[in-house]
Amino acid sequence: MKGIILAGGKATRLMPLTKVTSKQLLPVYNKPMVFYPLNTLLQAGIKEVLIIIAPDYAGHFLHLLGSGREFKARFTYEIQEKPRGLADAFIIGKDFMDEDSVAMILGDNIFTDDLSKEIKSFEKGGRVFVKKVSDPERYGVVKFDQDNKAEKIVEKPKEWISDYAVTGLYVYDKRVCQFAKELKPSDRGEIEITDINNKYLELGELDVVPVKGEWFDTGTFDSLLAASNYVAKHNDSK
Ligand code: DAU
Repeated sequence: MKGIILAGGKATRLMPLTKVTSKQLLPVYNKPMVFYPLNTLLQAGIKEVLIIIAPDYAGHFLHLLGSGREFKARFTYEIQEKPRGLADAFIIGKDFMDEDSVAMILGDNIFTDDLSKEIKSFEKGGRVFVKKVSDPERYGVVKFDQDNKAEKIVEKPKEWISDYAVTGLYVYDKRVCQFAKELKPSDRGEIEITDINNKYLELGELDVVPVKGEWFDTGTFDSLLAASNYVAKHNDSK
């Protein structure tokens, strides 16, 4: 299995912190943010990682992460010229993935659990990781039927459908590249990963796995602070 870290975008919500650097390079306690999702992939034994970045600070990522040798892995970089949507990762990453399956993680998502078992046991289809949240309107949200089976996923639902957010870690087989190519942009003008998840769901091939530990989407000032505080409190290397 290969890995992709999607670390592009404009991060206007975090201005002025992101005026002179990329969100995913901001500190989360004692490490740059991107180290955390990278660690989630490396922990799962993934050795080949594609890092997708925006043009403006591409050199900073290269400087920080390099070839990957230091991490006993191999890093490849691609530029995403415009934030076309999360599913663009599988269009940009098609050649990199080749015939392999992929674990894609957002560069601003921090998981405190070791998810290697859940990643390594993947065989086919798609796998998403969900977490109960108090603000589901911010995320892709899973609607469950009466038997507690996932029925569909709705991106940023205006009306409440459940408290279970789809987190920013996704595992797919190689068909994801074809599915991404077929997507039409949503009302917000993006090709949505939620549409890919619904495609696998319709095929009966989407696993929905709960995340037991903490999860942070560090896209806001408050969640960035919460993530830093969590790491400071639970950090072993202090
Ligand atoms: O964090 C989990 C959520 O991530 C999911 O629950 C949602 O279903 C999913 O759509 C996404 O929602 P966000 O509103 O958090 O997505 P955002 O546009 O903030 O992008 C997430 C990260 O991906 C962000 O760090 C920037 C990066 N990104 C985003 C886009 C749209 C890219 O690198 N390229 C892109 O084209």
